[in-house]
Amino acid sequence: MSDIKKIKNEFLHKLNADLNIESINQIKSELFGKKGKISNSFKNLGSLPTEERKKFASDLNFVKDELQEKINKKIQELEIKEINSKLENEKVDVTLPERNIVQGKIHPVSQVIDEISCIFSEIGFSVEEGPDVENEHYNFTALNTPDNHPARDMHDTFYLNDKKELLLRTHTSPVQVRTMLKGKPPFKIIAPGRTYRSDSDQTHAPMFHQVEGLHIDKYINMGHLKGCLNYFIKSFFEVDKIKMRFRPSHFPFTEPSAEVDIGYELKDGKIVIGEGDKWLEILGCGMVHPNVLKNVKINPDKYQGYAFGIGIDRLAMLKYGINDLRAFFETDYRWLNHFGFDPLDVPSNYRGLSR
Ligand code: DAH
Repeated sequence: MSDIKKIKNEFLHKLNADLNIESINQIKSELFGKKGKISNSFKNLGSLPTEERKKFASDLNFVKDELQEKINKKIQELEIKEINSKLENEKVDVTLPERNIVQGKIHPVSQVIDEISCIFSEIGFSVEEGPDVENEHYNFTALNTPDNHPARDMHDTFYLNDKKELLLRTHTSPVQVRTMLKGKPPFKIIAPGRTYRSDSDQTHAPMFHQVEGLHIDKYINMGHLKGCLNYFIKSFFEVDKIKMRFRPSHFPFTEPSAEVDIGYELKDGKIVIGEGDKWLEILGCGMVHPNVLKNVKINPDKYQGYAFGIGIDRLAMLKYGINDLRAFFETDYRWLNHFGFDPLDVPSNYRGLSR
């Protein structure tokens, strides 16, 4: 048997064994390394007589390719085997209960938004959304707050360009305008979302949450507004009776305007909502100003209605006994674990809002 054939048989035999990646590399260097058998054979070519050299070289190349191919195949097989065993070992049965997992919690603000949506949907309100980046027209002008109106200064607006056309919305009221522009009355909507003002202390954050309410139809009056808010506050605080008062106020987009206070008392350092002789302001409201209706091409002689704006973070603090607003936005997991809610316990009017 020729030397080449011997090499071939010897190594094909070796390669047929059950090998791991190290032993394959070992075989590779025995064949193709500096002193490898194939490399050496090539070195010997020069010493062969010319007539034998050609055949020898061609046979040698043939065997070299064959062995090389066998090695590549072996490596590929090993890689596939490794991937398969990894897949097998790392398989996760998602239907099994996980013991080591850290359970996520629903943030109190998200919980309160769900509760509010739930309460208002019960009496026919649907939920609308608007963008956080607003233009000056929707945020102010269309809401009867023209240029140089003092109410603009009170909002501590974050403007986004020098011309003061783009801004971060200072309230959810622009969603009233957007909603009325895209449809025809009647409207009965709430619009929860983020709002922004340049303000920060224990009870103010530069980003906070409001929910807007708007009900426009024929013959809507302040009695409807009062009934709606009374129903909402009682449902939200989960009490049967609530002390509530309307205090005259001013907003450019409502006439008349009011702020609503609810009664509370302090018992053992805790706020108890509904009774007592102390008052707490929780929202602004009023009858939508005829100019706002005209701005969205609604005839104020035919349609009228009420609107309100409630601070969501404030409601969450009151209901769940949280006394520093800033904690809401610090993403401290320990805080969330304490004040957060079970993700599977979705608020519902029938099963209970927060219990
Ligand atoms: N947008 C007002 C604010 O942020 C709150 C408000 C008051 C909204 C009266 C209303 C309303 O819709 O009718 O201070």
